[in-house]
Amino acid sequence: MKIPFFIQEFTVEMEEAAIHALRNESFVGGESVSKFEEEFAKYTGTKYAASVSSGNGALQISLMALGIGESHKVITPTNSFIASANCIRMTNAKPILTDIDMDDGGIDLSNNENNVNAIIPVHIYGNPCDFDSVKSFAEEQKIPIIEDACQAHGAEYKGKKVGSLGDIGCFSFYPTKNMTVGGDGGMTTTDDEEIVLKIKSIRDNGRKTKNEFDKLGFTMRLNTVNAAIGRVQLKHLDEKTARRREIVSIYRKNLVQDCILPENKDGKSVYHQIVIKHEKRDEIRKELADNQIGSAIYYETPIHKQLIYQEFGYELPNSEKFSKKILSLPSYPQLTDDQALEICEHVNKIIS
Ligand SMILES: Cc1ncc(COP(=O)(O)O)c(C=O)c1O
Repeated sequence: MKIPFFIQEFTVEMEEAAIHALRNESFVGGESVSKFEEEFAKYTGTKYAASVSSGNGALQISLMALGIGESHKVITPTNSFIASANCIRMTNAKPILTDIDMDDGGIDLSNNENNVNAIIPVHIYGNPCDFDSVKSFAEEQKIPIIEDACQAHGAEYKGKKVGSLGDIGCFSFYPTKNMTVGGDGGMTTTDDEEIVLKIKSIRDNGRKTKNEFDKLGFTMRLNTVNAAIGRVQLKHLDEKTARRREIVSIYRKNLVQDCILPENKDGKSVYHQIVIKHEKRDEIRKELADNQIGSAIYYETPIHKQLIYQEFGYELPNSEKFSKKILSLPSYPQLTDDQALEICEHVNKIIS
């Protein structure tokens, strides 16, 4: 590919931090882990953060810390990565999948089911969801909110960072995300001390003290070397987000139709994905591929249409229509202005 869809970042600073941690700290539970957690909590505006081994793990452990399990129901949107729903099933609760807003692909609660036990809104593509509607639904139902902020490190809603809006925030550091730890990793954020202590226990096999275990748990910790790399990445996150926002403005200025999904009017997206929505999606994708330019579809198959979810029999028509029209363009900070302009030229050839 002349312009790939994604570039894995590896810098000298990441390498030095990794080597320093490997040489000087315990491989598991080294001081980089607690420092990364403190810095991430400060960045997000929460009292606490607890790192885990993935975004999926962050979601699953959060549900467990809130006591979600068998006979419970948890709402989440169908336009997301499958982990947003799998985490619910892994606790033996039932996933209640909702349809989405056709404009921005975010959660739509207008036809929601009542009598649920928790909600996992997703800040999809790095764009904060309509959190006021999520919050009033959760308040009516008296249920906790677990934000799936796996794609939205640093995004804001009404001046507050995502991950600090609900009861628990969950983040992923998978290498394609806006920040990584040089491998898999995740983070939970919360203001609730009891919850953070439970999460720290569950990620460590349900440990209470050195030799006592009072709950079921996993080995789901973040390795020290990954935390050390995460600290470096967090330091540069805002400058990289700023570059993503420049790239989206180049696209917006130069595409003959503004077919980019809108940003939440009450928020600030971090443009994890820059997504266009167009009837000629497949032609655009072919034009880009013919010219060695990468693109991707997030998500080609809504969760309820995946084999493992078909048994629930959901029909969620907006998401099905939406998934046929969307295309993610390269959005990484290393993309040059000229490359962004070249992408616009090819998209314009099809849509003008
Ligand atoms: C919206 C969303 N939720 C959950 C996850 C799961 O994160 P991970 O891949 O780190 O398990 C991801 C990342 O892939 C995601 O994009």
